[in-house]
Amino acid sequence: MTTRRAFLGALALPTVGSASALDPFRGLRVLDELSPRDASPEELARDEDFWGAVASAFDVDRGLVNFNNGGVSPAPRLVVDAVKRHIDRANEAPAYNMWRLMQPQKEAVRQALARVMGVSADEVAITRNASEGLQTCQFGIDLEAGDEVLCTDQDYPRMRNTFAQRAAREGIVVRQFKIPTPCNDPAEIVALYRAHMTDRTRIVLVSHVINLTGQVLPVKEVVALGRERGVPVIVDGAHAFAHLDFDFADLDCDYYATSLHKWLFAPIGTGMLYVRKERIRDLWPLMAGNPGQEDDIRKFEEIGTHPVGVPLGVAEALVFHERLGAARKLARLVHLRDRWIHALRGDERFRLNTSLVPGMAGGIANFRIEGIDSQALGRHLLAKHRIITTPIVHEDFEGIRVSPSVYATLGEVDRFVAAVQDVLDHGLPA
Ligand SMILES: Cc1ncc(COP(=O)(O)O)c(C=O)c1O
Repeated sequence: MTTRRAFLGALALPTVGSASALDPFRGLRVLDELSPRDASPEELARDEDFWGAVASAFDVDRGLVNFNNGGVSPAPRLVVDAVKRHIDRANEAPAYNMWRLMQPQKEAVRQALARVMGVSADEVAITRNASEGLQTCQFGIDLEAGDEVLCTDQDYPRMRNTFAQRAAREGIVVRQFKIPTPCNDPAEIVALYRAHMTDRTRIVLVSHVINLTGQVLPVKEVVALGRERGVPVIVDGAHAFAHLDFDFADLDCDYYATSLHKWLFAPIGTGMLYVRKERIRDLWPLMAGNPGQEDDIRKFEEIGTHPVGVPLGVAEALVFHERLGAARKLARLVHLRDRWIHALRGDERFRLNTSLVPGMAGGIANFRIEGIDSQALGRHLLAKHRIITTPIVHEDFEGIRVSPSVYATLGEVDRFVAAVQDVLDHGLPA
């Protein structure tokens, strides 16, 4: 049988790296490279040929070292090309092509997302980002003045602002508590949620991965705690989906929202909201749905005219993600993380704000250097070395968040290490 690789080889297409735009099959060729191997995810994490093929799927600016993929990620060429095609097609006759031909294709994307999540497609809404999905839940549950909502002071600022707006407008009470940084013990975190719940608590917000540090929180246990008390738990999965390798059913949650433009490598402007079927009716959408849509997950997608080609590109991102494999992806991200941490941690001024206890973090970690201002270090890494990181200042700690992605080379990780080592040896330039 002719494999796609052999078929494409027979076409003798140009393979010059920079000529990717001339090679319409390049994305598919990369998928071939990602076929199953005998190696375990941890063994494969060290296979530079494999990860070189993965990296070649991304047209990133190698003049920079981009270690802020937690903010938003580049998408592989396969995804970008699909979106461009969809946008061109929409523009040929928008009212017909976009609404009549392309809009129905969102159902295929919904089904593909649902399959990866292991849920029903009737429980998956395609949103523009995590914020939209989370705010749908945060605004969509009725509350009365005096009702309490619970979160930590490390939840994402926009999500805390969302509750703050309800406090200002409706008189609800936002209870916020602190969590240890780094936190090594999931039980300690669960105990803190338990301790801060009162008989007025009506909603709990919990981050699956804290954006500041990459710390993983025990979502399953917090969801169980909420259920025990009859309190809905909204899970902020912005950084978790397609990053951590987890079984969604195991979390047993009712509300889960994530970005798709972070770790799934989907087009910028995509997210997903999961709502358990029985909870859909009682959750108000941000924008009013149509009559008859009360139990329909699609009521959360009634957002008016928008570029339908963007969410359609999620389909290609899912193909890439599934071919790469969640376990292989996480193992590589952890391998990259451990490489820079192990290279630097010998210095006694190096401090980690992220726990390395297995399962407590994925590929994101946050560090600081005793005696060095993290914001100044971040500015220096960019100005002198063209390395993008994320300086973080929180009331309780500061540091630099480092989030390389699967397209990072070991050379880039080592450049980052050398740049930080230089600061350890000589300090920051005056
Ligand atoms: C924990 C967390 N929640 C929510 C968001 C919002 O995500 P989006 O920008 O996709 O709406 C982010 C973004 O970085 C985040 O880190």
